[in-house]
Amino acid sequence: MVSYISSSSLITVNHVIVALALLLVVFTRGSSSAQLSTGFYSKSCPKVFSKVRPVLINALSKEPRLGASLLRLHFHDCFVNGCDGSVLLDDTATLGEKTAGPNNRSIRGFKIVDDIKTAVEKVCPGVVSCADILAIAARDSVVILGGPNWAVKVGRRDSKTASFSDANSGNLPAPTFNVSNLTSSFRAKGLSVRDMVALSGAHTIGKARCLTFRDRIYNETNIDSSFAKLRRSTCPRKTGGRKNLAPMDIQTPNHFDNKYFKNLLSQKGLLHSDQVLYNGGSTDSLVKTYSNNRKTFNNDFVTAMIKMGDIEPLTGSSGEIRKNCRRAN
Ligand code: HEM
Ligand SMILES: *[C@@H]1O[C@H](CO)[C@@H](O)[C@H](O)[C@H]1NC(C)=O
Ligand SMILES: *[C@@H]1O[C@H](CO)[C@@H](O)[C@H](O)[C@H]1NC(C)=O
Ligand SMILES: *[C@@H]1O[C@H](CO)[C@@H](O)[C@H](O)[C@H]1NC(C)=O
Ligand SMILES: *[C@@H]1O[C@H](CO)[C@@H](O)[C@H](O)[C@H]1NC(C)=O
Repeated sequence: MVSYISSSSLITVNHVIVALALLLVVFTRGSSSAQLSTGFYSKSCPKVFSKVRPVLINALSKEPRLGASLLRLHFHDCFVNGCDGSVLLDDTATLGEKTAGPNNRSIRGFKIVDDIKTAVEKVCPGVVSCADILAIAARDSVVILGGPNWAVKVGRRDSKTASFSDANSGNLPAPTFNVSNLTSSFRAKGLSVRDMVALSGAHTIGKARCLTFRDRIYNETNIDSSFAKLRRSTCPRKTGGRKNLAPMDIQTPNHFDNKYFKNLLSQKGLLHSDQVLYNGGSTDSLVKTYSNNRKTFNNDFVTAMIKMGDIEPLTGSSGEIRKNCRRAN
């Protein structure tokens, strides 16, 4: 009896400790993202937004795909230890995120980030983080390519390190994922199924390499046959062509619209992880909604982008404001 009472009170004490620890986690995370705000630079660098935009208008007019590459950089930054600019760090003696599996020979846009950073440093040196530059560049790219506009929250600081293993260990979703894998990947970052489907709409712009969709175009049955044939023509089954590129949206690859979802309805999703969103499962209705209603897609995409941009930022005196986005100060 005595031992029963003492063990149950022990459990109660444990529960209280766990509850307090959870509260602490919720509180510290909540307060760090709460420090991001749209007006963070209104005194220290009021010109930041007007300095970023023209660099991108100019660059995207020559190469629209850069907009896609920048949007993806922000995503890959945020999903690995939060939106802290870590994806931009060049490898040092120890490998960083740039050469981790999902990123190696795939992520791009670093020169344009440098150009933006240079333009911003000119007007307010040492003030604006590289993590914020990615968030602003992602928003501006979407707008320039015809997508929705929103006020970007800023105030993130930059990490001093990048983690090869954290970028490799399943933080980033793979194109082989099915809906349950995708759902848990996004849920782990505090994003809902709705956020996940809306954010997948980013694949309305940009390109993918043959090696990421080869299995789908040769082996899967939920694919339009003429679409598969077309993609096979530049992506051989066996040898070579691994790096050959195909547009992720067969209709309007340089335009941020809802055609990605329309393609899914006709089984013209390029990646396995795209087509699973419309394959007789629970996300079908949302894909249909977005394909019929660009406004709903735009609204949900903006909501989800703001949530993604809030993932575990460094604020206060954590991290630093990098002078060069490629290396720690
Ligand atoms: C849902 C899970 C996702 C998976 C499995 C996935 C996977 C991929 C893959 C495999 C590529 C092609 C990479 C290559 O071949 O080099 C790609 C490209 C791209 N992804 Fe995703 N992605 C996902 C979500 C997202 C999200 C949330 C965003 C942004 C909000 C995004 C934005 C892009 C863009 C814009 C491109 C084209 C990049 C370029 O042309 O440089 N993706 N993605
Ligand atoms: C990155 O890709 C290249 C080319 O495929 C390869 O040689 C290199 O080993 C890869 N780097 C890492 C760290 O895996
Ligand atoms: C997802 O794939 C895993 C195997 O990787 C499988 O166990 C699971 O049932 C699949 N879920 C769905 C919804 O297809
Ligand atoms: C996908 O999810 C299934 C469970 O649904 C799990 O068994 C499997 O390991 C997951 N695969 C990946 C690559 O996460
Ligand atoms: C297709 O499936 C077969 C049999 O499972 C497998 O051997 C092959 O590697 C897969 N991929 C391609 C591109 O054929």
